[in-house]
Amino acid sequence: MRYTDINGCIFTQIQNKMNEVLLSALNNRYATKKFDATKKIPIETVDALIEAIRLTPTSYGLQLMKVVLVQDQALREALVSHAFGQRQIADASHLLILCREKEANASHINDYIENIADTRSIHVDNLIGFKNMMHNTVLKMTPSEQEDWMKKQVYIALGNLLTSCAVLGVDACPMEGFMPAAFDNVLGLQDMNLASVLVIPIGYRAEDDKNATIKKVRRPLPEFLVKI
Ligand SMILES: Cc1cc2nc3c(=O)[nH]c(=O)nc-3n(C[C@H](O)[C@H](O)[C@H](O)COP(=O)(O)O)c2cc1C
Repeated sequence: MRYTDINGCIFTQIQNKMNEVLLSALNNRYATKKFDATKKIPIETVDALIEAIRLTPTSYGLQLMKVVLVQDQALREALVSHAFGQRQIADASHLLILCREKEANASHINDYIENIADTRSIHVDNLIGFKNMMHNTVLKMTPSEQEDWMKKQVYIALGNLLTSCAVLGVDACPMEGFMPAAFDNVLGLQDMNLASVLVIPIGYRAEDDKNATIKKVRRPLPEFLVKI
């Protein structure tokens, strides 16, 4: 059934159902404090979640970030003490670390330009203007400005991942409560020119995780939405 609202927008029952499904998934998700260590996410779903992160939009499309999937259980145990004892790091089905590049440099821009040229069958000469624009902005930033800017992109990826997890029925705990320098050291990230930004254990909630049933606390809509 289709109907039109007073602004002339067309809605369908399917669209309304999709709104409901989305909001239900987002209400059902929560920062999982205790994972069921016996439940594993199917590999196809893990792949889909990683693809969702890869599809995250970034400034200029430069993607100055990488996902690290920590598969070694001993390493995961070693990381717990560098995250204030948060057991989710060792107990969740999978552990993702969202990282930024240590610095943004000319070779990142060159690689990206070549990727666009290959992917879209464009000659690199036609991308000179775009390339120069990136040089004139990204390479003019101070190291600290670059760091802030790259971190912002990683947080967009976090949002994308959390929503994707919710929609696919996977639980997650976004974490910035960890010591990045220690994580980088334990995982050897410096040697890969990476710096950890966010840690996200993903898996399935434990039956006795009390946080699963407590009410969500959010600012009431009238205090949150400003209509001008
Ligand atoms: C960027 C970020 C960092 C967070 N760091 C931690 C953390 O280190 N440990 C933790 O248990 N929860 C962490 N949280 C979870 C938040 O406390 C939680 O998302 C917030 O209270 C809202 O609750 P809800 O996610 O359950 O709806 C973090 C959340 C975000 C978005």
